[in-house]
Amino acid sequence: MLRDFGLGDEDEAAWERSGLPAAAFEDWLTDRVARRPAGARARAVYGADDVHEFARRAILEALALGPGDWLLEIGCGGGLLLRDALASGAAVTGLDHSDEMVRLARERSDGAEVVLGDAAELPFPDASFTAVAMSIVLMFLADPEAVLRECRRVLRRGGRVAIYTTAPELCGTPAAPEPLASRSRFYADDELAELARRSGLIDVAVVNDSGGQLLTARA
Ligand SMILES: C[S@@+](CC[C@H](N)C(=O)[O-])C[C@H]1O[C@@H](n2cnc3c(N)ncnc32)[C@H](O)[C@@H]1O
Repeated sequence: MLRDFGLGDEDEAAWERSGLPAAAFEDWLTDRVARRPAGARARAVYGADDVHEFARRAILEALALGPGDWLLEIGCGGGLLLRDALASGAAVTGLDHSDEMVRLARERSDGAEVVLGDAAELPFPDASFTAVAMSIVLMFLADPEAVLRECRRVLRRGGRVAIYTTAPELCGTPAAPEPLASRSRFYADDELAELARRSGLIDVAVVNDSGGQLLTARA
């Protein structure tokens, strides 16, 4: 199964070193590939220009950042959205719980602040940012409503949210393959909107383009 995800000898050695029981393999694989990426293959995938470009473009178009904005990207991976956001003149901060992704994002987005941290406990004071982004992260969150509440807390009043995630109709397809799919959470458009409203966000909208969902809202 390692090879199905393009993983190689380094990853096999990492699995053996982990000492985890065989029953934990699919969880470990989900982390290594996407939920907390690690290893040379993950650095190559998340540092490549074309990774999740569709999501990056949709988010940046929705946020329409400019000088005077301060963006937080949660789950910034290899930092390409941070890099592109900097070109708008905005100040940019990224956060990820994978130390390898934090190091990669720092290399890829010169001028952005990138911190190691968890989406559920954002290490920022209230009203720090004017915009928050998440690209292909929400599906991995154990308590997405709590994370959306954190987004609202760190946003200034009127601040914008743009989140790109994967709809249930793509579960089990190459966009969300097993064993990742059964370890991820998928929401119908109205469920996703309701999640955002329950977290206290306003002006909530969800656009679904062939199973790619863009959630926009304001604090
Ligand atoms: C599938 S990758 C997407 C990376 C990047 N946003 C992109 O679109 O290419 C998911 C990223 O979210 C991060 N992540 C997942 N759960 C997180 C959490 N609870 N707190 C912080 N980062 C998280 C992972 O470490 C990983 O870098």
